[in-house]
Amino acid sequence: MERTQVGIIGAGPAGLLLSHLLALAGIESVVVELRSRQHCEQRQRAGLLEAGTVATLRDAGLAKRLDVEGIEHGGIYLQYAGERHHLDFRDLVDRTVTIYAQTEIVKDLIAARLAAGQRIDFSITDTSVSDVDSSRPVLRYVDEAGAARAVECDVIAGCDGFHGISRAAVPDVVAYERAYPFSWLGIIADVAPSTDELIYAHHPDGFALHSVRTPHVSRLYLQVPAGEAIGSWSDERIWENLQKRFALPGWTLREGPIREKAITPMRSFVSTPMRYGRLFLAGDAAHIVPPTGAKGLNLAVSDVALLAPALVAWLRDGDPSLADTYPERALRRVWRATHFSWWMTQMLHAVPGDAFNTQLQLSQLRYVTASRPAAVTLAENYTGSAPA
Ligand code: FAD
Ligand code: DHB
Repeated sequence: MERTQVGIIGAGPAGLLLSHLLALAGIESVVVELRSRQHCEQRQRAGLLEAGTVATLRDAGLAKRLDVEGIEHGGIYLQYAGERHHLDFRDLVDRTVTIYAQTEIVKDLIAARLAAGQRIDFSITDTSVSDVDSSRPVLRYVDEAGAARAVECDVIAGCDGFHGISRAAVPDVVAYERAYPFSWLGIIADVAPSTDELIYAHHPDGFALHSVRTPHVSRLYLQVPAGEAIGSWSDERIWENLQKRFALPGWTLREGPIREKAITPMRSFVSTPMRYGRLFLAGDAAHIVPPTGAKGLNLAVSDVALLAPALVAWLRDGDPSLADTYPERALRRVWRATHFSWWMTQMLHAVPGDAFNTQLQLSQLRYVTASRPAAVTLAENYTGSAPA
């Protein structure tokens, strides 16, 4: 049986950042990951970082490339009823957000961990945990070469995302869930963004979002019905729908080759408690938000920013108090983001046949763009400065 202090399941943003922050405080970990390194580094997902997320990465010495390539945005556009309104976050809450893709964060984290001599076992199978309610929990898996491994840990961190195995090891779970009748079709296109800041567009045909990745690459999303197959969306049909939903006199949406396209279902999900014995959950393993408002990745980072010092205080200094309150402190932020993501989602997505809902949405959008207190509410939640 091998030994480590913290067994970390999952090499996504949560697991990798946790390993890094622990190492900075002298705590060792083993990271195990189902997929290959290449798969982890190329999985297209989020791209918008709250200032707190940037600060966490910078403080940990992980922002060298982020500080050069990240694109700072001081607001967003909200579009509805043929009008486009700007919300100025600098003016409203003195905060900004930063565009830097999750793929790049994962590449930076993996490079930093490997450079520091960290062991990350990629392409493993058969992950399981046992004895998490004892003082010596065990992490088991089969490594890439097919050898069965067992690692005795002080603590196990379940950072294995929504489809991982960790959450199932917590007994008596209370889960809160909301499914939505629509999905997002996301594309990456090799074309310069047609906007300086993100455009969130309400449209009778469905929501659309124009985001950016680099000065030469755009990220765009379309609301599509839940259960839609990507095969029924040709590039031509995607651009046609984007053109229609963003249309505004005097403004042009530039088109370019679509490099990637995928459909993501949308749900809100919070599983409690986030700890059982010596097993701690962080990130998507414990909670999922719909992408409207870009909270998923930011929540994974904020969980870990709480969990890492809690484990350091316990394992290095013998003080379990922060670990004891981790679930409660993390969940306060989780619920704030869960509410905000749900609110943004229901304000912006079309529900066919529900004319009452459409009028409420338009009224809410007019209010948010006309009332400073309402705009401040959106801005402080979007930028991550809302008290939880
Ligand atoms: P993950 O990134 O999911 O990492 C978990 C890791 O654990 C994965 O690498 C997985 O392979 C590994 N794993 C799973 N099971 C096991 C196992 N049994 N053993 C070992 N390893 C295992 N958020 C936004 O804010 N904006 C977006 O536009 C956006 N788009 C998204 C699109 C998709 C398709 C998905 C799935 C998510 C999206 N998100 C988005 C959410 C955001 O990407 C996540 O919140 C973020 O990745 C959470 O990080 P994490 O480390 O908790 O989980
Ligand atoms: C992105 C995704 C989001 O869900 C969002 O609200 C803003 C930006 C993005 O992928 O860039």
